Amino acid sequence: MIPAIAPVTRPQVTAVIGATGAVGREVLKQLHERNFPVKELRALASHRSAGEMLPFGSHQVAVRELAESELAGVDVAILAADASTSKAWAPRLVAAGAFVVDNSSAFRTDPNVPLVVPEVNGHLLKSRPTLVANPNCTTILSVMAAAPLHAVFTLIRMTACSYQAVSGAGLPAMQELENQVRQWSRNEPVQASVFKRPSLFNVFPHDSALLPDGSVEEETKLIRESQRILGLPKLRVSATCARVPVRRSHAIALHLEFAKPVDVEVARQTLDRAPGVRVIDERQGSPADSLMAAEQDDVLVSRVRFDPGVPDGHGLALWVVGDQLLKGAALNAIQIAECLVS
Ligand SMILES: NC(=O)c1ccc[n+]([C@@H]2O[C@H](COP(=O)([O-])OP(=O)(O)OC[C@H]3O[C@@H](n4cnc5c(N)ncnc54)[C@H](OP(=O)(O)O)[C@@H]3O)[C@@H](O)[C@H]2O)c1
Repeated sequence: MIPAIAPVTRPQVTAVIGATGAVGREVLKQLHERNFPVKELRALASHRSAGEMLPFGSHQVAVRELAESELAGVDVAILAADASTSKAWAPRLVAAGAFVVDNSSAFRTDPNVPLVVPEVNGHLLKSRPTLVANPNCTTILSVMAAAPLHAVFTLIRMTACSYQAVSGAGLPAMQELENQVRQWSRNEPVQASVFKRPSLFNVFPHDSALLPDGSVEEETKLIRESQRILGLPKLRVSATCARVPVRRSHAIALHLEFAKPVDVEVARQTLDRAPGVRVIDERQGSPADSLMAAEQDDVLVSRVRFDPGVPDGHGLALWVVGDQLLKGAALNAIQIAECLVS
């Protein structure tokens, strides 16, 4: 487990909004596993799941409908619902006196709201902002690998091709893939509604909105958010995002070009020393894969090598895999909360 950057001791009234979703359930698990001092837990969601019971450590907690009456006294709120819910409720939670960390895209481009990966730009939390945006999952995993290398070799270009797990689209998407496995094994027709096509035995361009320039929204998020978190607004970034039939953990083929010539062994050591990153050296076994990364805090990096497409030894190619529900969402959000309330 990644230790808290700033341990929290004072008990906190903690609200998780979207507690029944793929990210929200991981937030509950992380709060317990990281010994976040929860004085009172409010597990909130829509009216659809009010009354549902969710595990919290060895206890069960009843889900309640998100309502104005739930805001009083909240110290920390982790939002893990859709962007419109965040837009409506984050300002009310801040007004009620809470520190708010939002997992949605609602505030990620707002210049007044810090967009934070604690290991990369955690200094932005020193001023204790009351609202912090948790970045896009593929972006978090990419910058966790790129930032330590930038500190040594000076990054000038990044190309990311992602292989994203279905749970990145939420719990119903993960359940749909599981159902498709059952349907296929029973020789039944495979039903698809979340992605409008089967994810089983299929790879397809990322399902986010198609933009007029031919890119998809996920690629734009990866480009803009990486530039912002790395503090390199002019960084040249290229992205292609795809969905693969994997339950959890995104993989990214990352190609990095640097101002300085690279040394592969120094790069490997730099990554292995970076907090929250672990090098899985394929020469001593197998490179990292999605199953290996699932339910792990660390971002795994394998296949660190020269990129022969970049002249004069200025390029590195990496294989980056991380659990997007943990470091790509719940864990990063709780690390931010730990820094805010310590
Ligand atoms: N999945 C990922 O890997 C990932 C990674 C990074 C960021 N994110 C972001 O995290 C957020 C949650 O994603 P997810 O994958 O966990 O989605 P999800 O599995 O579909 O869960 C959505 C959650 O939002 C709740 N919700 C929906 N409408 C609501 C409303 N009006 N009021 C209160 N709660 C409401 C749902 O409650 P009900 O059960 O009542 O419907 C559910 O708990 C999204 O903004 C997503 O973009 C996701």
